[in-house]
Amino acid sequence: MTAYPYEVHDYDVVVVGAGGSGLRATLGMAEQGLRTACLTKVFPTRSHTVAAQGGIAASLGNMGPDNWQWHMYDTVKGSDWLGDMDAMEYLAREAPKAVYELEHYGVPFSRTEEGRIYQRPFGGHTTEFGEGPPVQRTCAAADRTGHAILHTLYGQSLKHNADFSIEYFALDLVITDGRCTGVVAWKLDDGTMHVFNAKMVVLATGGYGRAYFSATSAHTCTGDGGGMVARAGLPLQDMEFVQFHPTGIYGSGCLITEGARGEGGYLTNSEGERFMERYAPTYKDLASRDVVSRCITLEIREGRGVGEHKDHMHLNLSHIPAETLHERLPGISESARIFAGVDVTREPIPILPTVHYNMGGIPTNLWGEVLDPTPGNPDRIFPGLMAVGEAGCASVHGANRLGSNSLIDLVVFGRAAAIRAGKVIDRDAPVPPTNKGAVDRIFDRFDALRNANGSIATADLRLEMQKTMQADAAVFRTDKTLAEGVEKMRKVAAKMTDLKVSDRSLIWNSDLMETLELANLMPNAMATIVAAEARKESRGAHAHEDYPDRDDKHWRVHSLAWVNGPEVNLAYRPVHVEPLTSPDQGGIDPKKIAPKARVY
Ligand code: FUM
Repeated sequence: MTAYPYEVHDYDVVVVGAGGSGLRATLGMAEQGLRTACLTKVFPTRSHTVAAQGGIAASLGNMGPDNWQWHMYDTVKGSDWLGDMDAMEYLAREAPKAVYELEHYGVPFSRTEEGRIYQRPFGGHTTEFGEGPPVQRTCAAADRTGHAILHTLYGQSLKHNADFSIEYFALDLVITDGRCTGVVAWKLDDGTMHVFNAKMVVLATGGYGRAYFSATSAHTCTGDGGGMVARAGLPLQDMEFVQFHPTGIYGSGCLITEGARGEGGYLTNSEGERFMERYAPTYKDLASRDVVSRCITLEIREGRGVGEHKDHMHLNLSHIPAETLHERLPGISESARIFAGVDVTREPIPILPTVHYNMGGIPTNLWGEVLDPTPGNPDRIFPGLMAVGEAGCASVHGANRLGSNSLIDLVVFGRAAAIRAGKVIDRDAPVPPTNKGAVDRIFDRFDALRNANGSIATADLRLEMQKTMQADAAVFRTDKTLAEGVEKMRKVAAKMTDLKVSDRSLIWNSDLMETLELANLMPNAMATIVAAEARKESRGAHAHEDYPDRDDKHWRVHSLAWVNGPEVNLAYRPVHVEPLTSPDQGGIDPKKIAPKARVY
């Protein structure tokens, strides 16, 4: 047993992660007077939400007719009927309220001439239940919406006396008699250890895009919450659904917002053809992301890619007036110049679909409470633990997320978690005491990784994992590529016991931190490829060439993956097919959201 001295901190709530959902949860908890700490491995305003560009979806109707039922319908269709209806209704209904709250907190949204919040079109967002023209539903702060939201929420959280523990790396959850009672963290700048006891722990750790070689995700997107949950013996849900954003900059993977197409940009192939008109005659370049990414990939496969290797496509913006580009898309104009050497007022941007978002994650109900499903009780709650944002899976995105539904997910469900915590936390009860046995076991694992003296460097093993995932769990999948991918990933995951960590220091040790991150990425990656191999249909982002059709009879179910090293056990839980409210209570007509073919 390894003894590390530690400091103990007692709170009502500890939030792990300070991106959009973590900060919205932190603020909501602190506003209610709950003693709240937020631990984060990076400075809050450097969390990956800062990179969110195009905007946040809500049916404000500022630019034309819109309502929450149309937003819900689009979300259901976008999810390819895998999302949970109750959660999707909650998202669409609460979205306007959540955006107005952001406005009142101080988010500097772009404005219309009349001074209302500016909204732009985004892929898959329509009117008249998919029968009308595209809708302008995505509320924007130029193309820096995530940046604006993060700064505002951080300031508000400080105002409400939330405590921030910045540059603390969460090592693991403390589990005591079947409930979560806290989290153990390593303080990166001085090497000290900290035990946070809490009545509620909220995981807001973001996605695991860095399981892939090319991703719009930051280097910090390492699925830390998913890793902790897997080690706690809890499952991950719907991990086979990984979103490729159609327009990552070719080479760097840096994001070019879908807002660029929302403002009138369009894609062309080597023949100069606007090929999306062929594949999605109604919504064209504003079809859903999974559809556009597949079309780009097909065009390249059929020899119509651009460039020397005919391996990417062009995004054209030069026909958009320079003033509009300057006002609405300043950030991507700069990114295109820096990462592609392109002046968007004159030349197209070279782009390629790039991993962008994980629809799957830690299963929760619509209040963010983490689920520990059993065959007889698929919605059983695991006490003391919540998950929100990209780390969680409520599930509102199902098999494919619509652009700008991510930022709204962060704030709606960060807020929902706070509402729920305010109800279930007993303020007068004592904070759970330190579970010394559990803390010792966490330090034993930490110490084993710190002293790992095998034969493969962390960066080399990470690269093997990323290359395998990129090649075998890609935009298009086949039985063969997936089966090979599973075998390769089993071998890659098994090498975790052969890692070599060269730096044993406890202070600013990036080698050790990246080893801990790799240990979190690995179960996320394993769950993804094994669940993908098992799903014998095509749905949303899971495009299986041997099973090209959606199969609702057998596969309209959420996958659950319990991961233990290279081993993954799968089970399935039913999709919630009932909305929150019935039509006589003002709910949506069930006929409108019944499964049907998904065409744009
Ligand atoms: O394209 C974008 O601006 C990305 C938005 C999103 O993923 O929601």
